[in-house]
Formats: sequence, structure tokens, C-alpha cells
Amino acid sequence: MNEFYQKDIISIKDFSKDQLEEIFASTDKIMQLNSSDRREICKGKTLGYLFYEPSTRTRLSFDSAMASIGGNSLGISDISSSSTQKGESLSDTVRIMSIYSDILVLRHTLDGSSRFASEISEKPVINAGSGTEEHPTQAIQDLFTIKKEKKKIDGLKIGIVGDLKYGRTVYSLLYGLGNYDVDVRLISPESLRIRSDSTYEIKKKLDFTETTDIEEYLDELDVLYVTRIQKERFPDEEEYLKVKGSYVVGLNMLKRMKDDSIILHPLPRIDEISSDVDKTKNAKYFEQAEYGKHTRAALLGMILNENGF
Ligand code: CP
Repeated sequence: MNEFYQKDIISIKDFSKDQLEEIFASTDKIMQLNSSDRREICKGKTLGYLFYEPSTRTRLSFDSAMASIGGNSLGISDISSSSTQKGESLSDTVRIMSIYSDILVLRHTLDGSSRFASEISEKPVINAGSGTEEHPTQAIQDLFTIKKEKKKIDGLKIGIVGDLKYGRTVYSLLYGLGNYDVDVRLISPESLRIRSDSTYEIKKKLDFTETTDIEEYLDELDVLYVTRIQKERFPDEEEYLKVKGSYVVGLNMLKRMKDDSIILHPLPRIDEISSDVDKTKNAKYFEQAEYGKHTRAALLGMILNENGF
């Protein structure tokens, strides 16, 4: 039996390097299959999604991934049109969705929501973003993108810039990078440094330095992972306005970077990468979004097929 069969995907911390590499190999395989063979992988299976927070990429890439492997999707993308509005609990909503689906994808405002859902659901649950805590499938897509574009992960110098306090993609990426031999530079305003409750755990597996000055390490980076300041997570607007626009990656900055460095961003972008960077060979954030469809298709195929695909 394949070890991912019926597995919940709650935290990237649950994955070893070998398991991540196995997902990358399955993603490569899925990308090489012709479309009719691909559609056999999850033929007749249903993905149920529950999004208590807005999403473009995550929800649509799961939808598109499931369609590409022959399955279908149903779910709630706008919680205001669901019976949550009448007071139905997350627990009951998850229980109902797990009756109608073979696998559940949940995005929720609360840390711990996906773990909670996985304890209720009889079907596997995939965390599509839980509060400020984690976004494990984003990290899988980010690591896969680095591997595809740089041909390796070990040995790289990786800068992560922006909102390191509230950005859940940052935590999942850092936990994932903990499986590799990388040097990490964390760049943020003082008030948006990574949370101290996570620092201890990250430090056990990863070397990193922290700075507020993006210029300090630009010339040595192989990867610059840019994140949005998460306005919606600030306790008040005044605090957000103090750090809004702290870093804007533009062509001038890019000139100071290695010629073969890559710029990533989980997206959505607001103003932290200027649009003239998009046309450069270093900008890989749209490729990253495309890889997200394929990594998710591979994960779904592995979770829903006892003997893999
Ligand atoms: N990267 C990401 O999670 O994007 P969405 O919020 O659009 O799903």
C-alpha cells in the first residue's frame, strides 16, 4: 500500500525529505502523462472543498487538479451562502461534506481548524490554509518550484521577505526547508519577525539569520521568496499602515541579484513586486502557481489510490 493512501495533509512537519521527494517524483510523472491516462487516476472520485476564507489559487488549483485526473469537485467557496449563516458548526459542516466527498479540502481562519476537521471527518482532510499557522500544500508547491527551477534545493541561499509574523506560507515553507541543507535569510520589519513560539522549532532544523534590510543579502541569494503584508490579520489598521509597502522588489533590486536567482511569491501580490519584474527571466511566481496544480494532482492521486498511480 502506498504510504500516502488516505493520509490527512495537515502540517508540512509531518513530511520527511524522502516523502517530499516522493511527491515531487509523482508530480513529475503526472506532468509527463498524456491527458487520457491522467484522467484515469481519480476517475469517479469527488473532492469536497470548504473555504471559510477567500481564495483564488488554492481552491481553483485543487478544482483544476481534480478535473485533470478525472475526478470532480463540489463545495462551498463562499461561506455566506452556506448554512454556516444559520449557525451550523464547523463540525457538522465537515461531517456533511465528508458524506458527499472522497476527500476534503479546508481553509479556515483558525489555527488548528484542519487538525480538528481531520478528527471528525471519515475522509482524508487537506489543510488549504489554517489561520496564521500553516499552508502545507503551498509549501509543497514552493519546494517543487525551487527544485524545478534551480535543479536542487540543498546548498541554496534563500531569502524570505515580508510578513513573516502572519504569513502561514512562510511557516510551512520554513518547516519544509528544515529537511534540506539551506541557508535562510529572513527579512522583515521588526514588528513582523517570525513568531517566537515557532522560532525554537524552526531553529532545531534550519540555519537562519534575521534582518530588516533587504539590501544586506541580495547579492548572495539564489531564491527570493516575497510575501504580502497580511492586512486582514492585523489587530488594527494603524499597525498595518506602519509597515505597508516596507519592501518593493523592482528592477533596480533585481540588478543586484545573481543572474540566475529566482523570485517566488505565493500570491496574491499587492505592491511588493513591481509588475515590470514579471517579464524578467527571474520571475517564477506564475510558474509556481502552475506547479501548484500539478503538485496537488499528485497528492490527490497518492491519497486516493491504495497502490499509487
Ligand atoms: N497562495 C494562495 O494561498 O493563494 P489564494 O489565497 O488565492 O488561494
